[in-house]
Amino acid sequence: MGDTPGPMASVERGPGFDFGGAVFDLHDPRDRRIVQFVLSQALFGEATGVYCGRSLYAARSLEAAEFYVRQARQELAHLRLFADIFRALDLSPLPAHWVIRLLSSHNDYYPLKVFLEHAVGEGMVLDVFKDLLLATLPDSDPRVPPIKKKLRVVVNDEAEHVAWGEKETAAALREQPWLRTPFYGMFELQMATLPLLVRALRSQAEGHPVLQHLDAFVAHVQANATAQGVRLGFVPAERPGPAARALAIGAGLALYARSQVSRSRSRLDRTYLHELGFE
Ligand SMILES: [Fe+2]
Ligand SMILES: [Fe+2]
Repeated sequence: MGDTPGPMASVERGPGFDFGGAVFDLHDPRDRRIVQFVLSQALFGEATGVYCGRSLYAARSLEAAEFYVRQARQELAHLRLFADIFRALDLSPLPAHWVIRLLSSHNDYYPLKVFLEHAVGEGMVLDVFKDLLLATLPDSDPRVPPIKKKLRVVVNDEAEHVAWGEKETAAALREQPWLRTPFYGMFELQMATLPLLVRALRSQAEGHPVLQHLDAFVAHVQANATAQGVRLGFVPAERPGPAARALAIGAGLALYARSQVSRSRSRLDRTYLHELGFE
């Protein structure tokens, strides 16, 4: 879906999740409401993904500028693609859940942005698209194979965005190692919001072939995100006690509060000669 085929990004997300072959029934009104809920969060996330165009102004290198141009085109394409999926299934979008609104708000502070949005945020999006939607939409429904074809394109693009987030997060932590603690605090908060998001589905989970795996699936997403955090160095290998976690969360919230008033600064006007190899 992207303009130029980006490098096939490889991100470590561990093995997929096993739903034991359970799929949704797209003719059952209850299942349709569940799929509608999930797709509505995806649609909103893709709409806000287009905000990445704003990151072009603060791009720290030509490579970053090129990435954000490509990402903006991809997210715009994803937005239309999810709209096509709604139409194909004859569903209409619902307003987004408040957790999704919170998690997808734009952040102008670059280290926090690449960490929160790309590495952790899009990492979880990747899990939901790849391990949930691709696994639980029924291939027996003639509308589904073309939908999955589109979803696979999205999954490839999202993997690229996650890889970018990991690379930039690692660079930010190398340059400013003190960010580890506030990043860890923000990560703990992000993980704590996930159960709130799926609470909306809980009442329908009992006895449902797919949703009975809901808690295990959330744990799967959290485990993937935690492994990523350990790999990148902002999650301690062993989970700290409640007091240390509370301190980290305080540091994370302070950093987040500061990021809300930080103005993004342009860089390329100062670095373009160096970036182009003239210096
Ligand atoms: Fe996307
Ligand atoms: Fe994305």
